[in-house]
This record gives sequence, structure tokens and C-alpha cells, in this order.
Amino acid sequence: MTKKVALTGIKPTGNPHIGNYLGAIKPALELAKEYDTRYFIADYHALNQTKDPIALRNQIYEIAAAWLACGLDPETNLIYKQSAVPQTFELSTILLAFTPKGLMNRAHAYKALLQKNKETNRDPDDGVNMGLFTYPVLMAADILLFDSDVVPVGKDQQQHLEMAVDIAEVINRNYGKELLKLPAPLIRKETGLISGLDGRKMSKSYNNTIPMFLPPKKLRKLIMKIVTNSQTIEEAKDPETCNVYAIYKLFADEKQQQEMKERYLAGGMGWGHAKQALFELLNEHLTPFREKYDELMADKSYIDEVLAKGSEKARALAEAKLVFLRKEMGVR
Ligand code: TRP
Repeated sequence: MTKKVALTGIKPTGNPHIGNYLGAIKPALELAKEYDTRYFIADYHALNQTKDPIALRNQIYEIAAAWLACGLDPETNLIYKQSAVPQTFELSTILLAFTPKGLMNRAHAYKALLQKNKETNRDPDDGVNMGLFTYPVLMAADILLFDSDVVPVGKDQQQHLEMAVDIAEVINRNYGKELLKLPAPLIRKETGLISGLDGRKMSKSYNNTIPMFLPPKKLRKLIMKIVTNSQTIEEAKDPETCNVYAIYKLFADEKQQQEMKERYLAGGMGWGHAKQALFELLNEHLTPFREKYDELMADKSYIDEVLAKGSEKARALAEAKLVFLRKEMGVR
């Protein structure tokens, strides 16, 4: 039986942190057991934000290295670069001919910018480029090009996915048949479990993250910054309200969790000790990832090779779809 297709785009934005890993990367990689998984680096989406060529090129390598280091196996998952599949942009042009402007007007990201401009008394379209405005169309092209059955994404992408379905429906209705498969969202559960250095949700926008690939010294320094209360060493402490333990338990097995809880409750363990224990545990878990990541970044030829091979396969799939669509639409 052929597996269903799960496809998702990865925006090349900075190094992932342990929240990204546990919340998004790991679950996405686990989908490979059940689905024909396709992951691509959304580099032309990133161009809307990153206009410095050196920065963009670095970001693309970093994100590719990160996913490979986190266990993405290019033998069992298709991985490619969006920009290396030009059929994406042809399909995007096709989709534009069927996309009501009003639909794009309703996109959250666009509306948020308009709102901000309004609040700051600027021209409503200030800072809005057409790439941002038509972002949902390009994303729909990414998805519809590969007859994706499911698209694993975070909640913030749900509206984009609904728009992809809307656009596909307009096209199918126009031609009276299913030219494009309607994708279903696979919305990640908000675990809410991954708290940052200050106890708030781990997020780059809060500047409270623990990056995946930090060298041990920097990792330790960061962990020492975790916010704790001012209890003395002697006092018994509550693991359930502690930011150190909140992160500890994400990586600890049952036995380690139990032992650490006992140390908290017994008293006599200071915050420095708890943080040192967390550092040791995290360092043990992250070291294999970091080593793999550093190796990939030190010699980028492996990444180049993986992306070139994947992109070639992706182009072949995409071209077959485009041959069909051009014919159905009367372009050829
Ligand atoms: N917009 C997505 C994000 O910001 C990335 C993305 C681009 C994507 N194209 C996609 C995700 C296609 C799923 C499917 O995270």
C-alpha cells in the first residue's frame, strides 16, 4: 500500500532550540513511520524577510544541518530546497489566476502589519511587499504541487492551510474535476510543556531559549541563568514550581525524575546544584546532536549533496504534476 504524503516547509530562521526540537522537529521526523514525508527548506519564503545574501545562505545551511543532525534520514525522507523546484513558482502563477484578492486581505500576517501601520499613523501599506501579500499563494503551491494528504504545522499556519484548500477548490470547481488534491492540516498539539529560562513558554521572541547546538561552556552559562526563587540551600524545594526541574523532566527518564524530585524535597540542595545536574543531563543528550551539527557545518558538501539529490527527485514529481495541469488548463 502506498503511504500518504505528509509535506511541510521549514523556514530557515536561525538555530532551533530545544523547544523547537521537542515540539516540532522530533514529532515531524516521527511521521516518517506512517507517511511518505517530504520536507523542504522554504528559502524563497525567507527572502521576504532576509535580504542579505550571506545571512540567507548561512540560514539555509544551518537549518539543513539542524534537521539532519536531529535525525532526518535523507534515505527515508525527501528533503529539498524550494528554490530548486521551479515548478513551485509556475504553479504559484497558476494559483494567482484563481485567488481572490479578498482572500489574501484576510491573511493574519498581512492584517497584523496593516493594524500596526494604523496604530503608528503610517500609510496602511507601509512595509508590505507583494511577497508578503501573496505568501499564502506560494505556500499553497508548495503543498498542492505534491498532492499532499496532510501538512504538519503549528497552529499559526492553520489559516494558510485553509487558504490552500480554498484556492484548490476554486480550481477544481472551475474544471469540474479534482485537478488538485485537498490537503488536510495536521496541527501540532500545543504541548505548553516546554518552558524557557524564565518560566514562560520557550520562544525566540522572549529571548529565553536553550539553543540545540551550543558548546558545553555556553550551555552551562545559560543554564546558570535560569530564574529560581531565593530559597536557601537548606530549605526543602518544590520541583513542580521550579523552572530548572521543568526543563530537567523533559530529558530525564522516570528514575532520574524520581531521584531529582527527592533531592528537591529533602532540602540541602542549592539552586547551583540543581542547575549543574540539569547541565549534565542536557549536555549528555545534546552532545551527539551538536557533534553531528558541527561536522555537517564544517564540511558543507554533504548538505549540498543531500539537497541536490532530494531536489532532483522533487523536480521529477513536480514536473509530472505540471505536465498534467498545463494540459488540463489548455496551456499546452
Ligand atoms: N509558512 C510556514 C512557516 O512559517 C513555512 C511553510 C512554507 C510551509 N511553505 C509551507 C509549511 C508548506 C507547510 C507547508 O512555518
